[in-house]
Amino acid sequence: MKASVTKSLFGKAPGGGRVDLFTLTNARGWFARIASYGTILTELQVPDRRGRLGNVVLGFDNLKQYLAGHPYFGCTAGRVANRTARGRFRLDGKTYKLCANSAPHHLHGGTLGFDKAVWAAEILPGPEAAVKFTHASPDGDEGYPGNLDVAVVMTLTNNGELRIDYTATTDRPTPVNLTNHSYFNLAGSGNVLGHELKVAAKFYTPADAGQIPTGRIAPVAGTPLDFSKSRPIGARFAELTALPIGYDHNFVINGGGKKLAPCATVFDPVTGRVLEVLTTEPGVQVYTGNFLDGTSRGHGGIYYTQHSGICLEAQHFPDSPNHPEFPSVILRPGQTYRQTSVHRFSTR
Ligand code: GLA
Repeated sequence: MKASVTKSLFGKAPGGGRVDLFTLTNARGWFARIASYGTILTELQVPDRRGRLGNVVLGFDNLKQYLAGHPYFGCTAGRVANRTARGRFRLDGKTYKLCANSAPHHLHGGTLGFDKAVWAAEILPGPEAAVKFTHASPDGDEGYPGNLDVAVVMTLTNNGELRIDYTATTDRPTPVNLTNHSYFNLAGSGNVLGHELKVAAKFYTPADAGQIPTGRIAPVAGTPLDFSKSRPIGARFAELTALPIGYDHNFVINGGGKKLAPCATVFDPVTGRVLEVLTTEPGVQVYTGNFLDGTSRGHGGIYYTQHSGICLEAQHFPDSPNHPEFPSVILRPGQTYRQTSVHRFSTR
């Protein structure tokens, strides 16, 4: 079978704009559904070890539920993903004020971040199912300086990868840090505590009670953050002290931030599904859906309760604009921001 992309109406955005839902089918018959609202990956159907397709991301089958509010299911988070302390940063001698949408901090680009934008979309020709989403974020958007043009190309490859290629350019210096915020559940239901996780990180960035990095880079060895060998996600929960319980930590990817490198692997022993994440980014926020509280009812009528999904948010370190010691997130005119993250599916 040949790969294909189809487009249908998903609904109307609050401003009245048309929101489309793209269905990307690869040559193996796997499919992904992506909305032009937030570039949200609403559904991703990949086979288990017996060859049966099943959805592996948390999401809804209608736009209304996304518009009603949700914890960043499947979206592109930006202009700067994760937390920026007190919604402030200094750049070239000037202080910028962002909205403190996760008081007192700024989170995932603000109240109307890229997750809530209606992106322009174009189906790309070629042997792979691919859609290019573009968005023009104006100067002053959520407090950020400069007009930023962003493109996100999402491809469901014929060899079993969901590949995301990001680019951005600006007309004034601005921080940029994009990520995809999909919550994966390789079993399609239940919680992910029995999924086995391996993270290619010897170090992490310790944070304060408000989840702002202290600036230290600390070893994971001897802590419950040590996922250097694959083990069940929930195995060391009892050692975690912060509430709500679970992981919500930024790991420093071994040799990361240069070229596409292994970042994390998740394995579900029940269905045999394996997800390997590779990225060009220096960090990954591992978040085990600690804030999910059962109020969202998603695909198949499933209520998403605590730890129903795991996010592997490949990105720069949290609060980078305020940490000159971290890899820089500053994009200047004439430069191009580039990121590639790959989600590779297989079975064992
Ligand atoms: C990220 C953060 C979490 C939480 C989720 C959204 O993963 O690190 O603390 O804010 O997004 O609910």
